[in-house]
Amino acid sequence: MIKVLFVCLGNICRSPTAHGVFENLLEKQGLQGAFLVDSAGTGAWHAGNPPDARAQAAAQSRGINLSHIRARQVEELDFEHFDYILAMDNSNFIELNALSPPHFREKISLLLSFSSEHDISEVPDPYYGGVKGFETVLNLVEKACIGLLEDIKQNKLI
Ligand code: 4NP
Repeated sequence: MIKVLFVCLGNICRSPTAHGVFENLLEKQGLQGAFLVDSAGTGAWHAGNPPDARAQAAAQSRGINLSHIRARQVEELDFEHFDYILAMDNSNFIELNALSPPHFREKISLLLSFSSEHDISEVPDPYYGGVKGFETVLNLVEKACIGLLEDIKQNKLI
């Protein structure tokens, strides 16, 4: 079982979107049984809540359901448990590195480092913006998730 954790600040916009997009990609390729996918936030404000209604609506319009996801905060055991820990932006990346035991830090990457597009390295936080921001998140995350799965396939020989 390959364990993948997507992380943002609140775990209600970007990381649940990546969580749902990656699950959808695995289902389309019949690979869901080989993976455990989860998401978390560096902050705890929204713990227990479903994804933001705008994130759910944007994902649903692309056939991706996020309604089963509930927010939670990153915890220390995550660094041992997960194989890939994907940060949405530099601030999440720095915070994860600070929280992680040193020997697990190599598991942490920026999600967009796996994208075929190299002109942007962070997924912008859409929380305080409009609907367009959620489409941008989906566009960036969809490309990066394809690259991430390709990378995992190459490294793990699945
Ligand atoms: P996310 O967006 O990190 O993509 O889930 C945010 C959601 C909530 C807050 C900040 C960012 N907040 O400050 O409550």
